[in-house]
Amino acid sequence: MNILAVGDIVGDSGTEMFLSQIEEIKKQNAVDFCIVNAENACSNNGITRRKAEMLLSGGADVLTLGNHAFRQKEAASLLHNNKRVIRPANFPPGTPGSGVTVVEKNGIKIAVINLLGRIYMDYMDCPFQTVDKILKNTQADLYFVDFHAEATSEKISMGWHLDGRITALFGTHTHVQTADGWVLPKGTGYITDLGMTGPMYSCLGVKREIVLERFIHCIPKRFEFADGRGCRRKRCRLGGKFRG
Ligand SMILES: [Fe+2]
Ligand SMILES: [Fe+2]
Repeated sequence: MNILAVGDIVGDSGTEMFLSQIEEIKKQNAVDFCIVNAENACSNNGITRRKAEMLLSGGADVLTLGNHAFRQKEAASLLHNNKRVIRPANFPPGTPGSGVTVVEKNGIKIAVINLLGRIYMDYMDCPFQTVDKILKNTQADLYFVDFHAEATSEKISMGWHLDGRITALFGTHTHVQTADGWVLPKGTGYITDLGMTGPMYSCLGVKREIVLERFIHCIPKRFEFADGRGCRRKRCRLGGKFRG
């Protein structure tokens, strides 16, 4: 089974890029199942029902989120009503939505788990203990984790923690793809970050002049996503089981 994992979709240009290319990518690579991080799909971060529907009907099977999961007002009801959209599992108990979903495709049960890192991020429950509990209580044939985190050390540690226990872990959030896609010794596919699906002429998806102004003159200005052409990065193939 071929699984495609797509890193953070950024704004309208990232959404358009995904929708215009996903069919061809899926065909070329015989993709059976597609997991997409959509936490920046809206122009001011987060996700709306409309964007979720566009991505799901356009080729995604499951949408994961991250630190911007609840940026849009309607996120709570979206998460409540659509089991194909999940938010990080280590939000405190009682938070709307779920951090895990199991979807059946071609007779195979695929579990997708979303976790949020804690280093340089908002305070969350422990992602390591959270994923242990989920794995104990979730029955599936394949298990994928989107670990949405800033620090490479935290993501690599999670890879070691889950090696041999899940099919693959891919990181999201930094919007820059790392060159460390490999299969860990006990068989789990791993990459620290998939990178973004978004405008190439930008700083992590944000208009570069805004970010430069912050760095050069220390003048804060509201971030706006850049427009324009996206970038298509090289594919990462891990043991024929996982493609990021
Ligand atoms: Fe992001
Ligand atoms: Fe993020």
